[in-house]
Amino acid sequence: MEMKRAEMRGNSGMKESAASQPGLAFGYAEPALDPLLQYSVRQQLEALTKEKLTDWQRRCLLRESFTETITTVLQQEKTDHQTLTRLFENMYQCAVQSMALAGLSQEVLTRQYIGSTGLVMSPLNCRTTIQDIYRVKGFTRGIDQAIRAKLAHKESIHILYPACGPFAPLMLPLLQYYQEKAVFSSEQIQLTLVDVQPGAIQTLHQLVSDLGLDAYVAQLAEADATAFQPEQSFDLLILEAMQHGFTKEGQLSIAKHLVPFLSVDGSLIPAEISVRGMLVHGETEFNQQWQTAKYAHSDNISEQAQADRVELGEIFKITKSSLLGMAEIELQSGVKVIRANQVKIPSGVADMKDRILAIYAHIETFAGESVGPYDSGITHPCPDMSFYVDMQPRVTSSQNFVVRSGETVQFYYQLTGLPGFVATKG
Ligand SMILES: C[S@@+](CC[C@H](N)C(=O)[O-])C[C@H]1O[C@@H](n2cnc3c(N)ncnc32)[C@H](O)[C@@H]1O
Repeated sequence: MEMKRAEMRGNSGMKESAASQPGLAFGYAEPALDPLLQYSVRQQLEALTKEKLTDWQRRCLLRESFTETITTVLQQEKTDHQTLTRLFENMYQCAVQSMALAGLSQEVLTRQYIGSTGLVMSPLNCRTTIQDIYRVKGFTRGIDQAIRAKLAHKESIHILYPACGPFAPLMLPLLQYYQEKAVFSSEQIQLTLVDVQPGAIQTLHQLVSDLGLDAYVAQLAEADATAFQPEQSFDLLILEAMQHGFTKEGQLSIAKHLVPFLSVDGSLIPAEISVRGMLVHGETEFNQQWQTAKYAHSDNISEQAQADRVELGEIFKITKSSLLGMAEIELQSGVKVIRANQVKIPSGVADMKDRILAIYAHIETFAGESVGPYDSGITHPCPDMSFYVDMQPRVTSSQNFVVRSGETVQFYYQLTGLPGFVATKG
C-alpha cells in the first residue's frame, strides 16, 4: 500500500487516467504550457490561412463561431462529443486570434503568481478555459436561464463577472448570441468584467471590440476582485475561479467579498458548489475506469468504480446564503480559516487502509444546470495523499493526517495564497 501511495504521489494519482488528459492538471481542457501561438504545424497552417483574411472576415468568423456554439449549447441538451469538440475548438481558435492582435508583451502574457488569496493564472494559461466544453456548457445554460428569469420582471439587469480571464467565456459568447439573434439588447443587459491581470483586460478590450459588444460592457476593470468596490448592486454575480479539490484559486475569497454587492433578489452563479469527499482505490478511480471511456465525463463514470467508492458526504457547501453567514476564524499565526463540515469515517470497511481520500465538486450553476465530477478539471476528484485511514505513514511529517475508522473528521478551509482544506480530529 505504501508503494501504491508513493506511486500515486509521484503522478498526483492521475497517471493514464482521465486526469492525464491534456490540461486537466491546470484544471482546464488543454495544456497551458506551450507559448501562445506556438501552434502545432496544423495550427500554423490554419493561422496562415487566417492571416489571408481581411480584418472584417476574421471578425465575422469569430462572431459566427461564438453564435454557432451557443446556439447548439442552448438548443440541444445533449450533443455528441465530437460536434461539441469541433465547435469549441473553433471558438478557441478565433478568440486566440483576438488575443494575438491585442499585442501582449511576453511578460504580460506569461506572468503567473500566488496572490494573497490564491493562484493568479497567466493570460497564456487561461486562454484554454474557453475550450472546457462541459464547464462552459453547464454555466452558459444556467446563466441563460438566470438572465431570462430576471428580465421577465425587470427592464434591465447588471451582471458582475470577476476573475473572468482574457476571454470571459461564460458571458461573451452568450452576449454575442443575444446580439446576433436579437434576444436581449444592451439596454437590457449591462456587464462589468474584472480581472487582476493587465493582459486579460488588454485582450478583453480587443475581443469585446471584435465582437461589437462594447455597448453591453459597462466596465472593464483591472482590479483585484477581493478588494474591488463596485458603486452599485448587481443582479447576477458570475464567478468561476476554482481548481480541482476546491484548491489553489481564490473562488471563496472572491465570492465572500462580492456576494454582499448582490441585490436582495440577486443570484450567485454557481448557485451551489457542493464539495464532497470519498475514499477510493486510486488505481480503480483514476486509472482503470478511464481505460475504455471515450472521454472524461460524469456520464462515463463506470458503475464498478462508483460501487467501489466509500462516500464520506459533503465537506463544504458554497451558496449565496452560506457565504453571507460564513464566519472567519483567525488563528494565532494570522491565517484565516472557515469551519467546514464534519464527516464520520465509516467502520467495517475491510480494505480501508488501501484507500485514499479524493475531494471532488458537484456544481449547480442555476435551475438544475450543472457541471458534474469529471465534466471539467474544476470538478475532477483531487487525491489528498496526506490523509491516512487506519495506517501510519512511514515518514513522519506534520503535513500528514492520520485517522481511524469510526472517528470523526472536522474540515476547515484555509484562506491563504494556497487555499484548501485542512483536516482535524472532530
Ligand atoms: C482560470 S482563469 C479564468 C477563468 C474564467 N472565470 C473562465 O470562466 O474561464 C483565472 C482568472 O482569474 C483571474 N484572477 C484570479 N484571482 C483574481 C483576483 N483576486 N482578482 C481578479 N482576478 C483574479 C486571473 O487573473 C485569471 O485571469
